[in-house]
Amino acid sequence: MAKKNKKNKARWFVPEGLEPTERDRRILYWQERGKLVPTRNLIKTAEQIEGIRRAGVLNTAVLDTVAEHIREGMCTAEIDRLVYDYTTSHGGIPAPLNYEGFPASCCTSVNDVVCHGIPSDDVLEEGDIINVDCTTILDGYYADASRMFIIGRTSPERQRLVDVAWECLKIGEAACKPYCFVGDLGHEIAAHAHKNGCSVVRDLCGHGVGLQFHEEPDVEHYGKRGTGMLLVPGMVFTIEPMINAGDWEVCGDEEDETEWIVLTEDGSDSAQWEHTFVMTEDGVEILTH
Ligand code: MF3
Ligand code: CO
Ligand code: CO
Repeated sequence: MAKKNKKNKARWFVPEGLEPTERDRRILYWQERGKLVPTRNLIKTAEQIEGIRRAGVLNTAVLDTVAEHIREGMCTAEIDRLVYDYTTSHGGIPAPLNYEGFPASCCTSVNDVVCHGIPSDDVLEEGDIINVDCTTILDGYYADASRMFIIGRTSPERQRLVDVAWECLKIGEAACKPYCFVGDLGHEIAAHAHKNGCSVVRDLCGHGVGLQFHEEPDVEHYGKRGTGMLLVPGMVFTIEPMINAGDWEVCGDEEDETEWIVLTEDGSDSAQWEHTFVMTEDGVEILTH
């Protein structure tokens, strides 16, 4: 979830008195050709990456705790309680809590809820598919990941949707090469979803993360190769494709006063997996394993 970029101006420059490095030259090459390049603050230092990695380790443990306890008959507010208790007792802060009015410590999105589902007294039933999305702040650093859980046995259609959403994330990861563009992964992700009769949500995207919850760039899960921001080693961002069994359009929930909950417009099911990645000289490395 992130806002759209507005500007496409000269964002990269070589500090006065310094010789351009190889990285400067590669970024300036694309900037001169009208591509969207990062600003320097989007390239994390080694120390920052280590901090985000530590936040990722805790975030993974939070999701592992959810995985251990989630079951039929449980309400989603119980998941929220687990997330809050585990995170805070290990020195972390659940980033969603009070973030722009969000009332809980994680998002729980069941069946036709695309994302930003709010934990409640709704009970999990056999056959439900649920995304639990956790973001942990540790020592000021953020890591963001989500997983799907299947409650008991589900239909082959729902199972396939969950699998396709996972495959889309892995395909996005594999498409991430240093100095590629966000659109390169979006293109591959959407092609895989469409090949499997699914659609890709367009209104929400992945995002830079690490020093704040939502940073540049927008990481759209569809699009054209060579569009979107240039991905340079040291950048940290999420990939989190939201894949619908039906059409890609989404809408709000009329009864939701917070206006956070996002549903599929046609009532079809939706699935999503998310990881936080750091771009390296060879490709991306997951920070939320
Ligand atoms: N974790 C979500 C994401 O992947 C954002 C949730 S915002 C919240 O970007 F406020 F709903 F938590
Ligand atoms: Co995210
Ligand atoms: Co998330």
